[in-house]
Amino acid sequence: MQILKKFSEDVNAGLSKTPKQLPSKYFYNAKGDALFQKIMQMPEYYLTRAELEIFQTQALAIIEKLRLKPYRHFELIELGAGDGTKTVELLKALHARAYRFDYLPIDISANALAQLQASVLQAVPGVSLRKQHGDYFELLGSLKDSSHPKVVLFLGSNIGNMGDQQASDFLNKLADNLNAGDVLLLGVDLIKREDVVLPAYNDNQGITRAFNLNLLQRINDELNADFCLQSFEHMPEYCETEGIAKSFLCSTKDQVVTIEQSGRRFVFEEGEKIHTEISRKYDDAVIQGIIDGSGLEIASRFTDANDLFADYILIKQ
Ligand code: AVJ
Repeated sequence: MQILKKFSEDVNAGLSKTPKQLPSKYFYNAKGDALFQKIMQMPEYYLTRAELEIFQTQALAIIEKLRLKPYRHFELIELGAGDGTKTVELLKALHARAYRFDYLPIDISANALAQLQASVLQAVPGVSLRKQHGDYFELLGSLKDSSHPKVVLFLGSNIGNMGDQQASDFLNKLADNLNAGDVLLLGVDLIKREDVVLPAYNDNQGITRAFNLNLLQRINDELNADFCLQSFEHMPEYCETEGIAKSFLCSTKDQVVTIEQSGRRFVFEEGEKIHTEISRKYDDAVIQGIIDGSGLEIASRFTDANDLFADYILIKQ
């Protein structure tokens, strides 16, 4: 099966590197989706609440900056839609003002998309929703197939899982598939102090720990491996000058892990870390750096009352 083969190859490639790493996109199986839902409700995880506040209190101001024409049908495309709670605020405001649009949520989790569809249709009855199941990296090309004006949502600081070069490549590719006047609404976590950021990735209840370790459980389950989850520790780091949170799984002893599906063995030394995720934090300069040369320009920026999070409106020139 194609998806499993790719997973296996990505795992083997990542664990063959020095230092070892694993792609964060594999966090999101059914168990990972459920754990991420819990993360978003944790007191320490301020990101979701801050962005929801922006949408709850400033939806109208945001809509005004999208430069929509009331009579012109457009597409509202959401990359990595998740549970859509924030988007519902925007959908309600657009729907109430009789804007004509299709809402096209894209997600790699079929499970998350089905739940999203149910909750959106309940919260905003009558909205036109067409879910798109897949990897948004791969679905970018199909944006060009439609000639409608587009508003692309990329919320929740999901872009933060990419390094700056990867983010820049991604936004360039996205922008290539947009027409002049099309909009990207980009939600990003802002660079701030360690005592605020680090607890968001190291909560008291151990939910983020379980989320991180679930990646090893998934390798065990799907690739027939024998990771001993008790022998790895969740280890987050954050450096404010760099503005990047990183998550690791640290081996607590010398050990060998076998992945039966591919017949590979990986040796871990005591204290050796697997890098599982980066969560980039941003400011205007970092955003400007990654959109440079893409044809996207910053038109406005909305923040929550505590200046934790920002939603940038970027317009394709
Ligand atoms: C979904 C990528 C925004 O990096 O903050 C939460 C994922 N990882 N806790 C983030 C995550 C650990 C999250 N993003």
